[in-house]
Amino acid sequence: MTAQVGAELLAGLREVLGPGGVLTDPADTAPYATDWRRLYQGRTAAVLRPANTREVAFCVASCAASGVAIVPQGGNTSMVGGAVPSEDGRQVVLSLSRMRRVRAIDPVDMTMEAEAGLTLKEAQDAADAAGAKLPLSISSEGTATIGGVLATNAGGNNTVRYGNARDMVLGLEVVLADGQVINALRRLHKDNTGYCLRQLFVGSEGTLGIITAAVLKLRPRLAEVELALCAVPDEASALTLFSRVRGQDAGALQAFEYMSATGMDFVLRHIPGAVLPLAAPAPHYALVELGSPRAGAGLRAALESVLAEALEAGEITDAVIAESGAQRAAIWKLREEHAEAQKREGASVKNDVSVPVSRVPELIVRASAACRALIPGARPVAFGHMGDGNIHMNLQQPPDMDPTAFLARGHEVMEAVNEVVRDLDGSFSAEHGVGRLKPDMLAEWRGGAELDVMRRIKAALDPAGLLNPGKVLPPG
Ligand code: MLT
Ligand code: ZN
Repeated sequence: MTAQVGAELLAGLREVLGPGGVLTDPADTAPYATDWRRLYQGRTAAVLRPANTREVAFCVASCAASGVAIVPQGGNTSMVGGAVPSEDGRQVVLSLSRMRRVRAIDPVDMTMEAEAGLTLKEAQDAADAAGAKLPLSISSEGTATIGGVLATNAGGNNTVRYGNARDMVLGLEVVLADGQVINALRRLHKDNTGYCLRQLFVGSEGTLGIITAAVLKLRPRLAEVELALCAVPDEASALTLFSRVRGQDAGALQAFEYMSATGMDFVLRHIPGAVLPLAAPAPHYALVELGSPRAGAGLRAALESVLAEALEAGEITDAVIAESGAQRAAIWKLREEHAEAQKREGASVKNDVSVPVSRVPELIVRASAACRALIPGARPVAFGHMGDGNIHMNLQQPPDMDPTAFLARGHEVMEAVNEVVRDLDGSFSAEHGVGRLKPDMLAEWRGGAELDVMRRIKAALDPAGLLNPGKVLPPG
């Protein structure tokens, strides 16, 4: 059992962090105790806002000495309650929001050293200003932070080309549960010196240590980008289109996103300024993006020719290629606002699942049918990163159902989808992590030796269980 947050602990923290570094007024702490969808409502006695790594280490050591548990928090955009404290008020939130410096960018090494509280968008802009590209892109990048995207190993829109967040990390600075600091901010592309500790912390959701800074691998800035939105007759055609585009120039394909008519309809109805740039609505959509660092790569002609072939083959029924940066942004908005549009449409259950890419059409068809059978009138909203096999197989409440009654059936919905996912050799969580929503699934899917090793790692690095308790690992 972790300890209560005592006045003495807070006074000691205030002395080092300053008055603005320790928030205790419920009006100030409330936004840190719930997630952006307000699905998880926690309580916290204090929010700590350290300004540098030394202060983070001091907070962690002080809390450890008092037996108080810590919930690390970045942009608080988790979909699985990964950064929300428990309801009992015994966990303090440690926000990295004051650590937002780009410490260094090296255009020769192609690296950026960034602090955990920098937003992903700020990091992308800093890379761009230095003539390079940080190729991680997710819908919440304006709010999500470097620490958060690494702690959750975020994936997003460009995984098909650049991999997940962990593929962009060369070095890491981490505060351990006892307040020690691992300073492994190396800029090395090759470094086989013992166990690869940084990868242990990436994706551990703040349960093994608190990431305070990272060295990220940059890529060349793109000189040409072409984006198309395609109307697609069915799920199988979307997969055939993907193979066709990848077959033409696999190196240039940087995003292949799928959207259904239902999700697109929500975006068009709820998001101001959203307009469908096609002649008519379609049953399915694919967003295809090509990019090259080489000016004169001829991507426009390549995209036109591959789409003409696809049209001829009946894989698409219509397509539009963005004519400007503004139109490209407008098309991306149709995809990136899916989560926000779903929120405005009412309650939804999220199923962030992955299957082998070849099985995506079957996943969408079978899981949608299973959801409809489970709750008549509920609306499947499948969308996401088809090019890497990660589909957000979400389910929207029936329009006339009470949202609370619908959400109460969340586990049944997830189970119905998971049954299909299991059958297709997939995963119950592709990019959103486990958080406090899915530890029971972790036990079920990764039980036996895998779970045993995870528990031993947790016990070795956080023996008192003070880092983000209740997340990732099931109790026991
Ligand atoms: C996305 O790709 O937009 C997200 O991961 C959102 C979601 O699952 O709702
Ligand atoms: Zn996603």
